[in-house]
Amino acid sequence: MRKHRLAIFASGNGSNAVRLIDYFENHESIETPVVLTNNKNAGVIERLENTPVKTLIIDNKQADDGECLINLMRENEIDFIVLGGYLRKIPAALISIYQDKIINIHPALLPKYGGKGMYGIHVHQAVKEANEPETGITIHLVNQNYDEGRILAQHMTSLSQDDNTIDIQRKVQGLEHEWFPKEIEKYIDNISK
Ligand code: GAR
Repeated sequence: MRKHRLAIFASGNGSNAVRLIDYFENHESIETPVVLTNNKNAGVIERLENTPVKTLIIDNKQADDGECLINLMRENEIDFIVLGGYLRKIPAALISIYQDKIINIHPALLPKYGGKGMYGIHVHQAVKEANEPETGITIHLVNQNYDEGRILAQHMTSLSQDDNTIDIQRKVQGLEHEWFPKEIEKYIDNISK
């Protein structure tokens, strides 16, 4: 049986990308043949050296060009796109071709702490400043508005007054690495039935 092929888009460190690649290695129905990044200095590039995963490095002009991305996805026979810390807006043309097939992870409990400018450590800083008793992750489909697509899953962690921004980030990344692969697997299995 042909496996579902995932492209992972990542702009930074790529810990989620690496976690997904590890999780789906030798998986019976899902594979991760491609990582795409719009940042030639992204940590993820180095982390994928000496692995069979193909790394596509694009510039921001290509990242904003829907046809260019569609062609890259078609050339690589991609069925689903997963955003793991990808910080560029996805062009509308790609969203319409991959309707309900682009999955993002956001490091907070949406609709709180979402929208433009809310990414990575900025999210955790805002959570800390608001003295939130809890935070978490949101895994959702991508539509044309930042962080507003249909929510597939949320997972929470409690916070204490003593947690600083880095502690919050560490807790949230723990949840991401635990749940992101499982939720992707569940979603793809369900819609493929
Ligand atoms: C992750 O925490 C992810 O949730 C966040 O960027 C981080 C990337 O970490 N994404 C966003 O903020 C999107 N709005 P990683 O590069 O180590 O996977």
